[in-house]
Amino acid sequence: MSNSWHDALQFSLGKIEKSIPLLEDFPDRCHGSTWTLVNQNRLSSNWVDGFWVGQLWLAYAYTKNPKFEAAAREWTERVAWLKTTLGTHDLGFIFYLSNVLGAYATGDETLFENARIAAETFTKRWNPRGEYLLAWGKVDGTPYQRGQINIDLMMNLSLLFWASHDTGDLNYARIAARHARTSRLVLIRPDNSTVHVADFNPDTGAYLRPETLQGLSHASCWSRGQAWALYGYAETYRRTNEPVFLYTARRLAEYVIANAPEDKVPYWDYDSLDIPNTYRDSSAAAVYASGLLELADAETDELLAERWRNEAVDITASLWKNYATQEDDMASILKHATHFERHGNVDHGLIYGDYYFLETLLRLVSPELIAELFPRPRPLS
Ligand code: GLY
Repeated sequence: MSNSWHDALQFSLGKIEKSIPLLEDFPDRCHGSTWTLVNQNRLSSNWVDGFWVGQLWLAYAYTKNPKFEAAAREWTERVAWLKTTLGTHDLGFIFYLSNVLGAYATGDETLFENARIAAETFTKRWNPRGEYLLAWGKVDGTPYQRGQINIDLMMNLSLLFWASHDTGDLNYARIAARHARTSRLVLIRPDNSTVHVADFNPDTGAYLRPETLQGLSHASCWSRGQAWALYGYAETYRRTNEPVFLYTARRLAEYVIANAPEDKVPYWDYDSLDIPNTYRDSSAAAVYASGLLELADAETDELLAERWRNEAVDITASLWKNYATQEDDMASILKHATHFERHGNVDHGLIYGDYYFLETLLRLVSPELIAELFPRPRPLS
């Protein structure tokens, strides 16, 4: 396959380079030859900002082309205003993929400074009674707003683990590990599928009920949520060395393998009543591929590591063959993703699908570069 991975990588780098002069704001979704940009009126829309910057840093790290570095630095500056916002739980996505990745890609440690501030801001969402990091809601909002967690948040823990390693303050990593423990208890079902959202009483810390935002229902499994969980627990294991997180990531991976359709790219929700006449989510598949490779790197069992790697390779091959925009005049690298089925945001490209596809290709082509860009030191050990 290695020739195909190089072709896919060159194709992806070409798409990114083409988008650089065309973008006036952060790209989000793609239906055709141009990107739909983030909605400036909604702070929560900015959760995607890191993926475009992250693509530019990955492109620079691999090619050393100064054009990518200049663009990555410019767009990294453009996320800086978010570093003190209390309005999003996605500071990890945003600041790991801009400032932390940028510092590792260039050796310029001044880039770490805004990531440190963002990590400190993120801890303001910590609820010590429920032992969770608050999703979405205002930190001073109604009890309902202060009581939600979601599975996506697992991907934001990177920033906190990094901050503990960087500053020597273990509090960041403790919060991250405890949030992962709480999420495991309420968001992962005995059948190894995930719940999207859970409600707590923020004052007592008591767990109340499962919910969903982007999935079919509180009882269904939203595929991108499963993907965030798999990647998030694999990394949490590498950062904590706690076996329970490895076992959790394995269980999540087994669900993905057992429930994969023939072409390995899941429908938007595993429980959609319309399968097979409904939408795929290629972005979930891209996150699965990278998360499975993260899990393979973490694995203590060689046979299982091979199982995760083989699945990641099969998913990536299908994405490249069936979901890449090779024959289409689209700005995105991948097509047929689903952002939010109930809102009609379906069958398009998504910037995070593209980001994780590129990350996966680099894991396959240049694992030593990925080890430099995503070191996983264990701040708790
Ligand atoms: N974190 C939001 C999403 O995956 O759509």
